[in-house]
Amino acid sequence: TNVDVSTLVDTDGGMIDRSIYTDRGIYGQEMRRVFARSWLFLAHESQFKKPGDFFTTFMGEDPVIVTMDKTKTIRAYLNSCRHRGVRLCRADAGATKMFTCTYHGWSFDLAGALQSVPNEQAYPEDFDRKDWSLIDVPSLATYKGLIFGNWDPNAEPLEESLGDMRYYMDAMLDRDPEGTEVMGGVMKWELEGNWKLAAEQFATDWYHVNMSHASALMVMSPTGRGPKAEIAATPGRQFVAPNGHGAGFPTHPKSRFDAGPVHEYYDYPALRERLGDAAVEGPMTTGHATVFPNFSYLPVNGSIRVWHPKGPDKIEVWAWILVDKSMPDEVKDAQRLYNLRTFGPSGIFEADDGENWSEVQAISHGFVTNSVPLNFQMGIGSERNDGVYPGQTSELYSDAAGRSFYKHWAGLMNTPAWHEQGKQSQQPGQ
Ligand code: FES
Repeated sequence: TNVDVSTLVDTDGGMIDRSIYTDRGIYGQEMRRVFARSWLFLAHESQFKKPGDFFTTFMGEDPVIVTMDKTKTIRAYLNSCRHRGVRLCRADAGATKMFTCTYHGWSFDLAGALQSVPNEQAYPEDFDRKDWSLIDVPSLATYKGLIFGNWDPNAEPLEESLGDMRYYMDAMLDRDPEGTEVMGGVMKWELEGNWKLAAEQFATDWYHVNMSHASALMVMSPTGRGPKAEIAATPGRQFVAPNGHGAGFPTHPKSRFDAGPVHEYYDYPALRERLGDAAVEGPMTTGHATVFPNFSYLPVNGSIRVWHPKGPDKIEVWAWILVDKSMPDEVKDAQRLYNLRTFGPSGIFEADDGENWSEVQAISHGFVTNSVPLNFQMGIGSERNDGVYPGQTSELYSDAAGRSFYKHWAGLMNTPAWHEQGKQSQQPGQ
C-alpha cells in the first residue's frame, strides 16, 4: 500500500512529520518510488582498470555487482543468482573471469550471461540459458568519473537529472584536466539513524557547524580558540536544486580550511582560469553537498560517500577518498590523512554528525515524540537567482535546500514509478 505523504511534508510552511524517518511502510515505499527510480552512485571509474575488475554495492537495499566487461564497458547486475537467489558475489571487490554461484555452481560471464549449469541435462528440453541471465541495471551513466545507475529503463539522462548541480560538482571533479581517482579502499561504518537525516544535512545544513563541531574547530584552530566567530560571520551561498540536490559553501577569496600541502599544491590563478572565480571562491571551499537521494561529498577533503539505507533506523556509510590524478603522491597522501582526521570513520567532525543523527533516531519512535513536527523554516522565501551562481540559491544559513530535498522526495513518493501501471496513492489511514 502506498501512502500519500503530502500531509507529512509541508515544504511551504517548513514542517516535517517525524514519521517519515521511522515508519516501516514509508520506508518500503521509498525503496519502490525513490530508490528504484533515482540515479544512485555506484562507484568511481578508477576502481575498474581491466576487464573482470568488479565492485559490489547496493542500490537502495538491492545488492549489485559493478564490473568491467571484455569490451571495457562498465556493467551492473543484481547480485543475486537466477537459480535460487543466493548472493552471487560475496567479495567486496576484486577481479574475476566469471561469477560462479557457491550454492549449486551456475556460472555467469562478465556480460551477465549464464554460461554453465552443472548437470544441465537434468533440466527440461526447453530450458535455455539465455533466459536466465543476471538482471541488468538498465540505465548506467558516468559524470566526470562518478558512475551512477538507475533501475528505470527510461530514466531521464543523468546530466539532465543533475542539471545545475554539475557546476557545483565540477569544483571538486574538474580541478584537474586529468580528472580524479579514488585512493585506497572504501571505508564502511554503521550509524543509528534514517538515511534522510544524513543526506538532508549534507544538502542544506551549515547551521550545525558552529555548535556541533565547536570543539573540533578549536582543536584545528591555530590559536586554540577556534575560528567560531569568523565562521559565524562568514558569507556564503546555498544551491537549491528543484530535483532535490543541494550544496552549501562559504564564499571567501583565500582562506580554505584544508590540508596545508594541498593548499600549497593548487595553482589558484590557473584554477580561476579553469573553473571561474566564483567556483574557486565558493563551491570549491569548505562546503557540503548532496546529489539526491543519497550521494554526498565534501569538496575540501575529497570525501565522497553513500548513505546506504538499512531499514528506517539504520545507515551504512560508505566513504571514498577522492584526489586529483595529477597530484604528486605526497600531496595525495596529505589529502588522505586530512580526510581521515576530519571525516574518516573516527574523524573529529564525522563523530559529531553521527552522534546527532543517532540522537534524533533513538527517540523518534516515542508516540508523542513522533507527533511533534520538525522545523525547516530557516530562510523561507530566500531562494533567488543571485546573478553569480547557477540556478536558485539561498543564504549559507538556510533550510532551503532541505525543503527542496523533501519536496522532491514527496513528489516521487506520491507518483507511481516505472514499475507500477495505473497504481494510485492512498490517503493516510486508508
Ligand atoms: Fe545459485 Fe543455485 S542458487 S546455483
